[in-house]
Amino acid sequence: MKRRETGIVTEYAQLTDDIFRLVVRCEAAMSAVPGQFCNLYMKDSGHLLPRPISICHIDTKASELTFVYRVVGEGTKAFSKLDTGATIDLLGPLGNGFTPIDAVHPVLVGGGVGVPPMLGLAQAMEGKCTVVLGYRTAETFLLEEFEKTGATVVIATDDGSHGTHGTVVDAIRENDIDLDVIYSCGPKPMLRALKALAEEKNIPCYVSMEERMACGVGACLGCVCETKDVDDHSKVHNKRICKDGPVFEAREVIL
Ligand SMILES: Cc1cc2nc3c(=O)[nH]c(=O)nc-3n(C[C@H](O)[C@H](O)[C@H](O)COP(=O)(O)OP(=O)(O)OC[C@H]3O[C@@H](n4cnc5c(N)ncnc54)[C@H](O)[C@@H]3O)c2cc1C
Ligand code: FES
Repeated sequence: MKRRETGIVTEYAQLTDDIFRLVVRCEAAMSAVPGQFCNLYMKDSGHLLPRPISICHIDTKASELTFVYRVVGEGTKAFSKLDTGATIDLLGPLGNGFTPIDAVHPVLVGGGVGVPPMLGLAQAMEGKCTVVLGYRTAETFLLEEFEKTGATVVIATDDGSHGTHGTVVDAIRENDIDLDVIYSCGPKPMLRALKALAEEKNIPCYVSMEERMACGVGACLGCVCETKDVDDHSKVHNKRICKDGPVFEAREVIL
């Protein structure tokens, strides 16, 4: 049973206009794997629901987790005001994370706020992978950290100001990237396009879904996604993203 704990902010940085990095010393770091997430709580007792944020980097030596997030509303705005030395309540690590399979040409794909969780996976793979990152503009984030892993890094931007002008799938095709398994996190249309690409190439594709959540621990069914098979437990075509995911084999879920 995971327990809510109080972590200490050991580092804080603003990476772009609206993207922030928070490093938190916490017990959760000792058992986390790439692709899992934590529920972060706001101090204001008026906001009881936590905000799920993916684990970007795991440092077991320092017992620290790094989170990288975009400010979109009250919760993420409150986190962006925390500074070094502040405390933050969190619950985690939650969800199932990525399980790398044997492959010659693994390709990691991140889009928007789906970029951060792919860093931990690239680090766990010691850079033996190709990373394709999709951003809105040339105002990228975490690029240096991905390059440091030794992975080949390819960029796509919506406005064409850096790398391929278009989607991550356009970048894969334009750069003729070899691939025999895809690991991905990002907006649904991106995951849908990667699922179609994987079907075309007949390769496995793992998608991490960052849908809206409520409890984040499997209790409220507020985060179900439609699945191909009937769930053993509920007997319906549904799975809970927070508990059964957020990572699924793309063929399992209807995107
Ligand atoms: C498993 C998981 C991992 C996540 N990891 C990250 C991460 O690493 N970095 C990051 O920046 N964000 C991540 N998110 C999204 C993040 O949880 C939301 O952006 C956050 O909860 C918004 O809280 P808020 O109080 O700031 O905004 P709110 O006031 O709750 O919402 C502000 C606006 O954002 C929209 N919104 C809120 N949540 C989501 C969502 N999940 N998807 C799309 N739109 C949403 C709302 O509809 C609203 O328009 C993740 C979500 C999940 C489920
Ligand atoms: S958010 Fe409550 S079951 Fe997933």
